Amino acid sequence: MTFALEASEVNKIYDSNVHALNNLSLKVDQGLVYGLLGPNGAGKSSFLKIITGLIKPTSGSINLLGKNIRELNELKGKIGYVPQELVFEDYLTVEENLKLFASCFSISNPKERISELLKSFQLAEIRKRRAGTLSGGQKRRLNVAIGLVIDPEILILDEPSAGMDPQSRNLLWEMINDLSKKQDITIIISTHLMETADRLCTKIGIIDKGYLITEGTPEELKARYNSSLSLQITFKKIPDQNKKIEFKNRLKKIIEDCEIQEDEKSLAVRGSNLELILTKFIETSTEIIGISNIQGININPVTLEDVFIRLTGSNLREGK
Ligand SMILES: Nc1ncnc2c1ncn2[C@@H]1O[C@H](COP(=O)(O)OP(=O)(O)O)[C@@H](O)[C@H]1O
Ligand SMILES: [Mg+2]
Repeated sequence: MTFALEASEVNKIYDSNVHALNNLSLKVDQGLVYGLLGPNGAGKSSFLKIITGLIKPTSGSINLLGKNIRELNELKGKIGYVPQELVFEDYLTVEENLKLFASCFSISNPKERISELLKSFQLAEIRKRRAGTLSGGQKRRLNVAIGLVIDPEILILDEPSAGMDPQSRNLLWEMINDLSKKQDITIIISTHLMETADRLCTKIGIIDKGYLITEGTPEELKARYNSSLSLQITFKKIPDQNKKIEFKNRLKKIIEDCEIQEDEKSLAVRGSNLELILTKFIETSTEIIGISNIQGININPVTLEDVFIRLTGSNLREGK
């Protein structure tokens, strides 16, 4: 079987001597929704621009649908790309924008294609509106619809829901999900949103500082760390700072591999020895903080965020 994408040892060093990608190798099976997950500056956009042929890698090779990216002509009409920024013309209507992009490619039945897209991206009712006057969510949907005008075999989406409110974001991701179910299409999507990636991607690659750190299905990634558990304790009122410090020091002494995170009114601890954490965490917090100041204790399942923190030692920072 041919892979939708085969990237091998891709490096990108910008003129400014920024190493954006380091020996990144990645294979994507056809028909998957592959999520490239990483914080701002991880190298996601650089990688996606390289695999669409927009910029050249410093070294490395890229094959799409079994063809080398250098044979871009043979790939024309097969790769749809939705960049992080908006690509349409503000002064044209929604429909005119789609027509404009359709006219750039030889599409067999553009009218039908455009009306299909207007419908599936909930843009039909606002087809006559100038794109510049649309809401943020509508603009993002139009941006994605434009990438699909050619009915591509591979759709590459760079943070398609950037800057959207959670509701419109969910709507857009559901549309992308529907698309992957209805059509034989490979979707490669970059995001810094853990939850969405967890819900919608068949496979995830975690990228940080230009390195592909790990790969797997969301379940595989979480299962690899399923021995770890996160316990959170919430206080009724903000405990004395000294008590918090004493509490943390005591826990670290007892549980060697634990990681502690805190905010004003809560403390959370992660680690691999479930039994020890459970007993010592409760024992220590009762003793030092006092049972009367404990609002509640939660046991949290492992999330992709936890996996990311374990792998990189830092939080997945919220995007711009
Ligand atoms: N054209 C450019 N010139 C120089 N540095 C760049 C350029 N584009 C991106 N970078 C740098 O490369 C790194 C990766 O950026 P990018 O691929 O945009 O990451 P992401 O999309 O994950 O946020 C960052 O440090 C960024 O500042
Ligand atoms: Mg980016």
